[in-house]
Amino acid sequence: MSLGSAGTKPEIFCALDTPDVAQAIALARQIGPVTGGLKLGLEFFNAQGPEGVLRVMESAGDAALFLDLKFHDIPNTVAGAVRSICARMSPAYLNVHASGGAEMMRAAKAACAPATKLLAVTILTSLDEASIVQAGFRAGLSERVEGLALLAKENGLDGVVCSAHEIVRLRAACGPDFILMVPGIRPEGAAAGDQKRVMTPRQALSAGANHLVVGRPITGAADPAAAALDILSDLRGTA
Ligand code: C5P
Repeated sequence: MSLGSAGTKPEIFCALDTPDVAQAIALARQIGPVTGGLKLGLEFFNAQGPEGVLRVMESAGDAALFLDLKFHDIPNTVAGAVRSICARMSPAYLNVHASGGAEMMRAAKAACAPATKLLAVTILTSLDEASIVQAGFRAGLSERVEGLALLAKENGLDGVVCSAHEIVRLRAACGPDFILMVPGIRPEGAAAGDQKRVMTPRQALSAGANHLVVGRPITGAADPAAAALDILSDLRGTA
């Protein structure tokens, strides 16, 4: 199994969805050296701030950080936020909403440090056809997702966060070098939880994903490091 050509390791970013710094540090210590990638999002960031992020990453070996903060504001404000994040935390990946528009994405990219890849969120996977129409978008969810991904690409972003079921379409539309970071991943037999459209890690990488976001199947396991290792062994064909 090979990653897409934009794919660089790590294959997996483990989502640490907790507001608790001690718990995040304990998980990072166990999982970071195994997956090589960790994701911290709004729940943790708003509870613990940049200081908490730095403490977690100090415990995570050389793991790369995906800071999932989904910025969406006027261009000048988003650019400032991106600049502050890069200066303080230097994440490997950071994201903004594509629906913030072309100018916002260009400003964000211009403010982003070269060491940080900037991704776009297209349409949140929690929204269905009815809710996007209610929110003022035209019907046609898949077309909207593809249109926003292309807008992100045209305006210099490095890739998108997308659902597993959008991988094939976006890989075809956006080409081999556009990064596809994919949550909603469940190993064979794992509980889906609140994720509605899931794929196994192997299926998602075969379809063309570069990186996978896996949270509860790892963090909720009795032995998180072993759970992460199982998924990686399966991906690498060494299980
Ligand atoms: O525990 P689980 O594997 O479902 O975690 C998935 C992670 O990816 C969570 O942090 C969730 O917020 C995030 N995410 C997602 N769907 C998106 C974007 C991010 O599930 N479209």
